[in-house]
Amino acid sequence: MAKEIVVSGIRPTGNLHLGNYMGAVTNFVKMQYDYTCYFFIADYHSLTTHPNPADLHNNVRQVLIEYLACGLNPDACTLYIQSDLPQIPELYMMLNMHAYKGELERVASFKEKARTQPDNLNAGLLTYPVLMAADILIHKAGKVPVGKDQEQHLEMARTFGNRFNRIYEKEIFPEPYAFNYGNNLIKIPGLQGGSKMSKSDGDANVISLINTPEQIRKKMSKAVTETGPLMVDSIPSEAVQNLFNLMKIVSTDEKLSHYTKAYANCSIRYGDLKKDIAEDLINFLSPIREKITLLQADNKLLAKVVKQGREKAQESAANTLKECREVIGFKSFL
Ligand code: TRP
Repeated sequence: MAKEIVVSGIRPTGNLHLGNYMGAVTNFVKMQYDYTCYFFIADYHSLTTHPNPADLHNNVRQVLIEYLACGLNPDACTLYIQSDLPQIPELYMMLNMHAYKGELERVASFKEKARTQPDNLNAGLLTYPVLMAADILIHKAGKVPVGKDQEQHLEMARTFGNRFNRIYEKEIFPEPYAFNYGNNLIKIPGLQGGSKMSKSDGDANVISLINTPEQIRKKMSKAVTETGPLMVDSIPSEAVQNLFNLMKIVSTDEKLSHYTKAYANCSIRYGDLKKDIAEDLINFLSPIREKITLLQADNKLLAKVVKQGREKAQESAANTLKECREVIGFKSFL
């Protein structure tokens, strides 16, 4: 039986951090061997916010490098740059003809934009879910590994795909659904007390894959802890529990149990705990950081990967688009 088709896009907004890596990216690395996966860098989507050309290119390049360094294998999956597929805007245009203004205006992500930047709303923002639907439908994907925040966009993708099938009386598109691999998404806490490592809480909250050992030591030394424990066997605050959770990922079981015992009997020294985590993080991330450095200097390899991805993705996209053009009534005169 043919493997199920998975599609996912990532917006090129800067460097990946440990949370991205342990969450989405390690899942992609597993999935690429179990499914037919299309992973792309969503640079068309970036245009809604008018990035400057040099930044856009650098961000795309950096995401590509970091994906490869994390273990995405261009021979196992199809790894490509969205703007290498002219078939995506063509399908987007077709889908737009059957996307209603009212339903697009009701999308939560658009309503949020309309609220926060009422004087800066372009058609690309309004039709963002249509472009995302085109990304998914162009490969006839049934599975889309995304977080909860993308659920509504996926529902729209199903609506647009079903509508197209119905209007043109052909089952071209399957229904795409959100997909969480094995239900064991690992969530990395932030360093400043939040339950999730996220760049929106500031750079001090995240460990980036490109952070140097010095930067990691500095960030860890500033990680939030608590004044306690004041009594034996008290329950750790969220900030301290976050540090234990971080330890679970990068440190040995012995170390973790040493510090949880020290917490329980009130002998814990947070300075030592944070130094230990910093060193373990450095060891954990150094192979990735070294690969990133190598790839940054290897334009030849990057060009080869991009070309390979473009060819594989275009083949799939061109097949779908051919079907769409046929049912619409675009017929050749030649
Ligand atoms: N909207 C997604 C995000 O913000 C990125 C994205 C664009 C995407 N196209 C996609 C994700 C297609 C999955 C499938 O994270």
